[in-house]
Amino acid sequence: TAALPSGYTLRPLQRNDFHAGFLDVLRVLTHVGDVTQAEFEAQFDQMKGAAGGYHILVILDGEEKIVGTGALVVERKFIHHLGLVGHIEDIAVAKDQQGKKLGLRIIQALDFVAEKTGCYKTILDCSEANEGFYVKCGFKRAGLEMAHYY
Ligand code: ACO
Repeated sequence: TAALPSGYTLRPLQRNDFHAGFLDVLRVLTHVGDVTQAEFEAQFDQMKGAAGGYHILVILDGEEKIVGTGALVVERKFIHHLGLVGHIEDIAVAKDQQGKKLGLRIIQALDFVAEKTGCYKTILDCSEANEGFYVKCGFKRAGLEMAHYY
């Protein structure tokens, strides 16, 4: 497993992380919108109550600022003898922190949680531009994504 830079830490997202820069890191990935602290906390509580389905990890730099994040959503199934499937979602590393193996470290940690939780596989969707990153993380191309936006 890759080591974090000195002084950096990796831990689960906390309810008081609103002011640590969590949403700003996600803005590297996509549109987030104006989410208030109350909205952030309500969403955090919903996820926390979802029977162990959500695992959101963050990496903090030496100044306790969030510089990377990623999520694992565990899906419960009837097939594969009540199998569990891990879904990796919303991986983002701050622009000025990319290339330091933070993304790799986040994926390794989420993969570990998925395996420990009993998932028989972990899947994710990504752009062609990110395929090389996920190959370096041990994933391989499988299937085809389709979407219906509302
Ligand atoms: N294409 C090919 N290889 C890559 C890419 C890429 N786009 N990005 C990183 N790599 C390689 C690195 O060179 C490194 O290789 P090495 O071990 O040979 O040196 C290895 O992958 C690990 O790279 P990291 O340093 O861990 O990558 P980083 O911390 O920069 O994070 C990430 C990669 C998450 C894609 C980051 O660039 C980012 O936040 N991008 C914008 C948001 C985004 O696109 N997120 C992913 C969306 S898909 C999803 O969420 C499921």
